[in-house]
Amino acid sequence: MNGKQAAGYRAVEWVEPGMTVGLGTGSTAYWAIQRIGERVKQEGLEIRAIATSKASEKLAKELNIPLYEAADIPHIDLTIDGADEVNPQMDLIKGGGGALLREKMVALKSDKLIVVADSSKDVNVLGTFKLPIEVVPFASEWTLDLLRRRYEVPMDFRQNEGSIYITDNGNYIIDAAFGRIEETGKLADELKATTGVVDHGLFVGIAKTVVLGNEDGTVSVRTK
Ligand code: 5RP
Repeated sequence: MNGKQAAGYRAVEWVEPGMTVGLGTGSTAYWAIQRIGERVKQEGLEIRAIATSKASEKLAKELNIPLYEAADIPHIDLTIDGADEVNPQMDLIKGGGGALLREKMVALKSDKLIVVADSSKDVNVLGTFKLPIEVVPFASEWTLDLLRRRYEVPMDFRQNEGSIYITDNGNYIIDAAFGRIEETGKLADELKATTGVVDHGLFVGIAKTVVLGNEDGTVSVRTK
């Protein structure tokens, strides 16, 4: 069992019968969804689930995990999701898989967000991983230009096999190479207040539990 699988499996120990659970996106959340699927099949675990991406929705359907539309979910007990970077304050960069908007909406609706990641995601300062910024397609070149002028760091539209990458919400993503993000809250607020920006991959003060998996299959759990 590698670090991603170990972290994903460990987090599913928090899932209890009757809960409404948010299903994250990516190769670590994949293992959590697999484990939930096993528990549904083997134990008859009864939960309600909502997915943070079309990819996770497809996986959950294949595993017979009961999925619900957002309109039918007034409250989420627990969401398990991955991260691209985690700092000691448990602030995150997310969105490497392009699902940041739905991930943030689901996380903010949840009583608890459990982050699952392998230990390579554990950093002192966020920003080595390019920060994903989801923007509306209309005049997206203006938004890119505005952000380039404001921050003076390399950034560009995410590509997918030679074409512009389009999110599950029909938007584009700008990946911005900040290098070091010292003031996470300030940057998060500035980006959120920028017209044309839908949301960004900085998750500040949202995660209270992080499960880090090591290559030898052991995990360490951080809470605050
Ligand atoms: C998708 C995400 C993922 O959780 C993040 O990219 C981590 O993915 P992985 O577990 O595959 O490394 O934010 O938008």
